[in-house]
Amino acid sequence: MARILITSALPYINGIKHLGNLAGSMLPADVYARFQRAQGHEVLYICATDEHGTPAELAAAAAGQNVSDYCDEQHQLQHDIGRAYGLSWDWFGRSSSPQNHRLTQHFAEILEDRGLIEERTDHMVYSVDDKRFLPDRYVEGTCPHCNFTPARGDQCDNCGRLLDPTDLIAPYSAISGSRNIEVRETRHLYLLQTKLEAQIRAFIDSKDDWPALPRSIAYKHLDEGLIDRGITRDLAWGVPVTRHGLPRPGFEDKVFYVWFDAPIEYIAATQEWADNLEDGKLRDWRVWWRTDAGADQVRYVQFMGKDNVAFHTVSFPATIIGSGEPWKLVDTLKAFNWLNWYGGKFSTSQGRGVFMDQALELLPPDYWRWYLTANTPESSDTAFTWEQFQSATNRDLADVLGNFVNRILKFCETRFESQVPAGGEPGELERKLYDDVSQKLADLTGQMEAIEVRKSAQVLRELWVLGNQYLQEAAPWTAIKTDPARAAVIVRTGLNLVALFSRLCGPILPFTAGKIADAVGEAYPGAWPSSDGEAELSRLEPGRAVSVPEVLFRKVEDVQVAEWATRFGGGGEA
Ligand code: 2FM
Ligand code: ZN
Repeated sequence: MARILITSALPYINGIKHLGNLAGSMLPADVYARFQRAQGHEVLYICATDEHGTPAELAAAAAGQNVSDYCDEQHQLQHDIGRAYGLSWDWFGRSSSPQNHRLTQHFAEILEDRGLIEERTDHMVYSVDDKRFLPDRYVEGTCPHCNFTPARGDQCDNCGRLLDPTDLIAPYSAISGSRNIEVRETRHLYLLQTKLEAQIRAFIDSKDDWPALPRSIAYKHLDEGLIDRGITRDLAWGVPVTRHGLPRPGFEDKVFYVWFDAPIEYIAATQEWADNLEDGKLRDWRVWWRTDAGADQVRYVQFMGKDNVAFHTVSFPATIIGSGEPWKLVDTLKAFNWLNWYGGKFSTSQGRGVFMDQALELLPPDYWRWYLTANTPESSDTAFTWEQFQSATNRDLADVLGNFVNRILKFCETRFESQVPAGGEPGELERKLYDDVSQKLADLTGQMEAIEVRKSAQVLRELWVLGNQYLQEAAPWTAIKTDPARAAVIVRTGLNLVALFSRLCGPILPFTAGKIADAVGEAYPGAWPSSDGEAELSRLEPGRAVSVPEVLFRKVEDVQVAEWATRFGGGGEA
């Protein structure tokens, strides 16, 4: 048994996330966590809300709430909606937690002690009308690289480049819209990433088994030359800047930059998990994060969208490596491209696309989990369209999986009194099925291990198809008339396929897996199967009671597609 630590990028607190956010970090992390638990490994899946920085302040202001109340409410909402999708976090923390405040201040202090942080005079965008500095997203304007407007002060949503507020062309205040903008002096702390360049490069060099996407992004930044990064901001909400445990003189009105404290929350959220004694369980966060406490034996896997990769391959490793302390570094980094909304982008700020809460008003979670997994933007950006969603639901879930399960269980009900039939010997068709299933099982396990999300969904579907083909060829409805023992073998094999599917569906379709397991009297969640088709299809003991489940999937009708396309936009823009 191995220890596997999994984190998915922390969603910003500024409102319920859209399906693109779900598809590009939390959902694949959940699928992987469920798969590894089913393999019998000790898994810790950590996520949290990212509550600091300008996204939080701007959203709270727009909602007319103080930031702290806003974050309390939104955290609860995001927690509940994530659970409704079956996201199996072991802990869903908050970057505003006391644990994260302490740990962020600790890292800053130790980095400064090691000569890796220095105070510098900075030139920052100041709004004369708002009487304040405008860090990051408080300033908008035109991107100097691609001319996109509105680009935000920290990053251009169009070309993805990281920006500095002073880079923007024709800047204006995101608070008031005022263009009465000056550049003024202010003091800030800088993390001297330039001094850590060789160590960070060596770290990335050692990850030659990483996929191309995160490696190429990391090398792009390294090859362009790392820059020292400002890690404080002129903001009120965030982790206060301390020195020797006391407020740092001159920094009373400043806090740490959100991208400094957010990844530290991966560790702090694990402390929150350990500190939460509600269930009376004693837990040690150190075994997951401190290599001097056993974390060198942990496999740490991170999930994120491609815009987060630079922070996880350069900035966060700079914090960890620079501290000189024995913290765990990421082993595998899985990055995703964008799931787009038809031709354009999903956008939280502009309310474009389907959001996690809205999707669940339309259909249960497994419909979305399937579509988003089968269409994960892995090798390139992909586009959500209602037509594709309809086809994935109808062709994969309803026609293939749902139909198979329903058909065999109905037949068993009418002909074998809803019991696994005894008698008969497997023949040629079954032996061929065992071989085919063995191959696909090995393939699926390999794809799941490799976190090839899309291919995993594909192979899973191929297994469902095998089941349908087998049933079609074996035709128990014909055999029952002339050879009841033969019909018994076929039905028993079919029921074993159902039981196998319940275990295989667990990671991607956990709700359906539970229903299918119930129907054939199996435990849920089931253990991940071996790749021995014959053994896996000979497990159910004759005489076991089974039942026909409620309809597993309803087809999405054309009228629904038309209605949703009108309600959420989409159709026609592709
Ligand atoms: O891009 C985002 O949505 C960020 N909130 C991700 C943070 S990941 C981490 F490092 F905390
Ligand atoms: Zn741009």
